[in-house]
Amino acid sequence: MKIGVIGTGYVGLVQGVILAQFGLNVICVDNNEEKIKNLNNGIVPIYEPGLEDLMVKNIQEKRIEFTTDIKKAVLESEVLFIAVGTPPADDGSADLRYVLEVANSIGEYMEDSKVVVNKSTVPVGTGHLVRETIQNKLNQREKKLDFDVVSNPEFLREGKAVNDCLRPDRVIIGTESKKAEEMMKKVYNVLYINETPFVFTNIETAEMIKYASNAFLAVKISFINEMALLAEKVGADIQKIAKAMGQDGRISPKFLHAGPGYGGSCFPKDTKAIAEIGKKNNEELLVIEAAIKANKKQKQKMIEKVTTNMGNIEGKVIAVLGLSFKPETDDMRDAPALDIIKGLIKNGAKIKTYCPQGMKESKWRLEEYKESIEYSENEYKAVTGADATVIVTEWNQFRGMNLRKMKELMKDNYLFDLRNIHGKNPEVRSLFKYYAVGRK
Ligand code: UDX
Repeated sequence: MKIGVIGTGYVGLVQGVILAQFGLNVICVDNNEEKIKNLNNGIVPIYEPGLEDLMVKNIQEKRIEFTTDIKKAVLESEVLFIAVGTPPADDGSADLRYVLEVANSIGEYMEDSKVVVNKSTVPVGTGHLVRETIQNKLNQREKKLDFDVVSNPEFLREGKAVNDCLRPDRVIIGTESKKAEEMMKKVYNVLYINETPFVFTNIETAEMIKYASNAFLAVKISFINEMALLAEKVGADIQKIAKAMGQDGRISPKFLHAGPGYGGSCFPKDTKAIAEIGKKNNEELLVIEAAIKANKKQKQKMIEKVTTNMGNIEGKVIAVLGLSFKPETDDMRDAPALDIIKGLIKNGAKIKTYCPQGMKESKWRLEEYKESIEYSENEYKAVTGADATVIVTEWNQFRGMNLRKMKELMKDNYLFDLRNIHGKNPEVRSLFKYYAVGRK
């Protein structure tokens, strides 16, 4: 069976490589020629552990190829995955332009029956819009061809995308067609025989499962962050609170780590998008809207934490360790570090920073602040001469830092540990004026 994957962003590329790894023949399409050239040469444009090796192996074994020719992919594939971006429009809703452009091309080029699978995170109802768009094109061409639309949302985490795709917690298949359902079982045969849980449902339910899952996790993080703010005021310890809460099986310990707020390509975008879907359907989603507001407040609170504890940060040098929205990725989309750095600079500070993967993207995202930011070669160079160090992302190499050396290199000894990675080190409080999240 040949599979076409349209869009080679995070989702499309990982999906394509994993399907090839499952033994299927895959053709991946993107309109960016440079990217396709690199991919055919085995170069992955993103930092995602394990992905490049797996891709190169599947290129060598001739199970995956990359092209800019969408017509070829449509003609050759039985199943077509749509995995293009759905960036937020001005009102926060998902912009469906690229999804519908692809649907249009499918309608334009198909010559036999297809299963069209939506992998992009799209508002409820998009599956039907995709169907309509393809059908309209077929009508224009006066072609009578059979096709099915399936919603098959992804749940991969950046940095763990390969594993999440190889061993998903569940596979969601939303379709009204029995035939398409059987086809999807064949596509995911490896997972199906491995007894991965499959949920077969209608398109709308599948589309909503994705938003509901992401929004729930975002609410969970905002909840624990809010508890952390209170814990600081009353003298409680958020890590103990989270651990004890997590021991209740109904709550679970996952996604209960207090920090500087959630970021990334999914939670900020998807919470806003589902809130917008709520409004369009005359249903205000109060809990999700509160989580969005709380996340904004959390980042502001981190800026205040540094500024008020240091008294005045005018002219002070602040080392920021970790820029990417989480470890093991170079992704800077909605990374809390961006807002925190901007806030510290607005309050008068100069920034020295180091991140194992996030510096390249930060340079253009923080272009207008470049006079106030110095990018360092490593974490020790970044803290040299600094009045304060702020750990924003919990990369393992920051966990393992030599704190004595760090203190010696710094000018003053403020340490703001926004991921609570050094709290258990008995030395940390004697070496530094130490501030964590969610405890005094
Ligand atoms: C998320 C979902 O986990 C994934 O299922 C979905 O497909 C895409 O969105 P991702 O954005 O890659 O994945 O990262 P994730 O590990 O979920 O973290 C998101 C953000 O929440 C990060 O900024 C992270 O630092 C933050 N977070 C996560 C916390 O602050 N505390 C936690 O306990 C967990």
